[in-house]
Amino acid sequence: MSLKPIVVAARAFPPAVEARLQRDYEARLNPEDNIHSSDALLELSEGADALMVTPSEKISAEFVGKLPETVKIVASFSVGYDHIDVDACRARGIAASNTPDVLNEATADIALLLLLAASRRAHEAADIVRNNCWTGWKTTMLLGVQMTGKRLGILGMGRIGQAVARRARGFGMNIHYHNRSRLRADLELDAVYHDTPESLLAVSDFLSINCPSTPETHKLIDHDRLALMPPNAVLVNTARGDIVDDDALIGALTSKRVAAAGLDVFDGEPNIHPGYRELENVFLLPHIGSATVETRDAMGFTALDNIDAALAGRDLPTPLWSR
Ligand code: 8YV
Repeated sequence: MSLKPIVVAARAFPPAVEARLQRDYEARLNPEDNIHSSDALLELSEGADALMVTPSEKISAEFVGKLPETVKIVASFSVGYDHIDVDACRARGIAASNTPDVLNEATADIALLLLLAASRRAHEAADIVRNNCWTGWKTTMLLGVQMTGKRLGILGMGRIGQAVARRARGFGMNIHYHNRSRLRADLELDAVYHDTPESLLAVSDFLSINCPSTPETHKLIDHDRLALMPPNAVLVNTARGDIVDDDALIGALTSKRVAAAGLDVFDGEPNIHPGYRELENVFLLPHIGSATVETRDAMGFTALDNIDAALAGRDLPTPLWSR
């Protein structure tokens, strides 16, 4: 009989997070970092009090329906929660939480890295040096698109979008955005609000996707909307891959209708659309938006703060829902 509550860690977590997990709970860890099948995760959850999950675990209504009575919270190590059926959790009285805020700055940094890398052709440039193909300097070598003075459209002006805007202002960009609701003046500052995605796309010399994945945003960036963008546009995505229609974007990059793209997230990742690998004008990263030691620790500690609260019967600090 365990004295400490039992927490299932669905994946391997950073050392500082697992140390706290083991200090405070009987932790069922996953040192091999396997992605468990739903059945395997359910088996591991037998008698457990809490689950700490990531977007690799699909917390569907069916899965939630089969969770043991003992489980009081599903805490996700992520801000995105498109992998969690929150209504199903609510129906079973199982609390659910995510990790907002702590990853705003790290993710916005990667959005800027993608904007710079895509517009300044970093992938082609780095390959020339690494593959020993650099024959000399030329005035016309690897000419990119300049960010200064351009319009940056931010699709989804939540806390990450606002962190992207703060950085982009430092690059002399003019900020435009679309969001479900307009920001308060003290948050909006000089940014121009667009009440539809179409109106935003029409002025986006650069576009940064920062909205969540929802049924409304699924494949929002399709062929027709890409066609609205100004010539030589650059698109980056640090949110979720399924917001972009891959065939449409690959077509637009192939025809150079869109000059370049920078992608950190992909539909069906890690099995990305193979067409992206064939293109020179796309800069690809393996979903590292929040991947700094500081941020990943903070995400883990936030997930644990939620578990602590749920098991102590306190209000959750960052609930998706709770009693
Ligand atoms: C992480 C993310 O890579 O928080 C999110 O929603 O997409 C990323 O920060 C991922 O969640 C790791 O679990």
